[in-house]
Amino acid sequence: MKALILVGGFGTRLRPLTLTLPKPLVEFGNKRMILHQIEALAAAGVTDIILAVNYRPEVMEKYLAEYEKQFGINITISIESEPLGTAGPLKLAEEVLRKDNSPFFVLNSDVTCEYPFKELAEFHKSHGDEGTIVVTKVEEPSKYGVIVHKPNHPSRIDRFVEKPVQFVGNRINAGIYILNTSVLERIELRPTSIEQETFPAMVEDGQLHSFDLEGFWMDVGQPKDFLTGTCLYLSSLTKKGSDLLTPSTEPFVHGGNVLIDPSAKIGKNCRIGPNVTIGPDVVVGDGVRLQRCVLMAGSKVKDHAWVKSTIVGWNSSVGRWARLENVTVLGDDVTIGDEIYVNGGSVLPHKTIKANVDSPAIIM
Ligand code: GDD
Ligand code: MG
Repeated sequence: MKALILVGGFGTRLRPLTLTLPKPLVEFGNKRMILHQIEALAAAGVTDIILAVNYRPEVMEKYLAEYEKQFGINITISIESEPLGTAGPLKLAEEVLRKDNSPFFVLNSDVTCEYPFKELAEFHKSHGDEGTIVVTKVEEPSKYGVIVHKPNHPSRIDRFVEKPVQFVGNRINAGIYILNTSVLERIELRPTSIEQETFPAMVEDGQLHSFDLEGFWMDVGQPKDFLTGTCLYLSSLTKKGSDLLTPSTEPFVHGGNVLIDPSAKIGKNCRIGPNVTIGPDVVVGDGVRLQRCVLMAGSKVKDHAWVKSTIVGWNSSVGRWARLENVTVLGDDVTIGDEIYVNGGSVLPHKTIKANVDSPAIIM
């Protein structure tokens, strides 16, 4: 089987992390975002993956070559000379997608869930129409593509409305599809939106179905949602009894959902959790309090610091008795001084913060 991942632009909404690495390479739950998707696709029998990008991803090539070997799959990078939107990239990759007649998966690169690829493929085959999109329920549907069903039909879609201004429903496009190759005939090679052009046309012809997602789902393309998505992901690991998690019997673990890389060092008398991810080579001092936060590889949190709802970027350092909260994101190699308070916002890579930041700000 084949899959195309829409990797797209520069991930501006996930700055400052994406100033250092392209979004798909940012670690989510201590694993690069793209690897979560590649792993799940390979497990479902996908052998050819196309990454649709609109910049030259030199840094990505090294990782992709590694993943090709690891999973015995082919990864093709399809580069757009101008951004082609969410449908144009499918046309650009037509040759690979038409390699055989089987349907192909399409994924937005910023969505996380327990990817239901096998079940999705089976369901798609069972109804025999052109396309199936995975849907999930959310409380705030206006940020997404909303679907409405045909009355008296369990799966055929009657309306697809991208980012509705008025409430039409709360079941939304989860950004995961399976499409027959015939859909490529509906798409022209130009910047075009699958949500605004292709799906409405398929709906019109009665060719688009929905598949309900079980379990958690999140678009983690911005810091606040990245943190929420991390909590959901860790909870799902807990539910599954995953041995990746640090056992709650550890004296410093508080409230569970704690994921710590084995190479990280944790000081004495810390209180860590719930919902904390600690990456490789992180050093946590004594008496540190961590909750609902992510410490990326090589970062350091010094003694008695208090960190909540924060992403500490790679190689950054948080001073003694410092306090970070309210969706603070530190880029790569940021230094927060001792006893400093940061109340939300972003700090760009390589900055040193020596004065309190009392209200959310972007510090360049
Ligand atoms: N290759 C390529 N080229 N990819 C692109 C381009 C482009 O020009 N533009 C966007 N993408 C990629 C993004 O990187 C992302 O992976 C995906 O296409 C969707 O774009 P977003 O910008 O993240 O869209 P969104 O989050 O506002 O809305 C989409 O996702 C929602 C679910 O999270 C839509 O598909 C909604 O209908 C959906 O509900
Ligand atoms: Mg998105």
